[in-house]
Amino acid sequence: MMDDLGHDPHLILVGLMGAGKSTVGELCARRMGRPFIDTDELVETAAGMTIAELFTVSGEGRFRAMEREALTDACASPRPAVIACGGGAVVHADNRRTLKTGGFVVWLQADPDVLADRVGRGAARAERPLLSGTPAATLERLAQVREGAYAAVANEVVDTSHQSPAEVADAVIAAYEQSGPS
Ligand code: S3P
Repeated sequence: MMDDLGHDPHLILVGLMGAGKSTVGELCARRMGRPFIDTDELVETAAGMTIAELFTVSGEGRFRAMEREALTDACASPRPAVIACGGGAVVHADNRRTLKTGGFVVWLQADPDVLADRVGRGAARAERPLLSGTPAATLERLAQVREGAYAAVANEVVDTSHQSPAEVADAVIAAYEQSGPS
């Protein structure tokens, strides 16, 4: 599978907070010998502060604008990469267009209670401003609201609820490789 310029496409991971995008993405990047790009990290570097601080200082709207720019930059990278997107990146239609043309998109899914177990407490919760209420309820609501957007961009869906990151990485890479000759 190559893009119009003859490059292998990016491998792009989407899904809710706690689905494993960063952990699995880093594993895939290492195994594939590719750079790993995390849109949340691009935003934090550009803002010079954490996402939690950015939400507090400038609001979610500013974060979303910076996230759009980060996703565009990541997908424009000439070297095939593994890209992990922030969980809400799929909500904006511009981003869905960028994702659909940007590479092979895998939607990492997990049950909301599994997600809440992974990111609903401690530092993982504190660094995610949207989880300041009741994490399980928020994740359940976001799953319903965003389901259509994830489905619209996904070339493949992998359920991560009962698999280790290494097993999920295997499934993701297999799906990518089956998507066409490279
Ligand atoms: C968000 C997910 C977070 C981060 C921000 C908002 C969301 O990324 O972009 O806190 O809207 O779901 P992760 O999915 O990597 O936790």
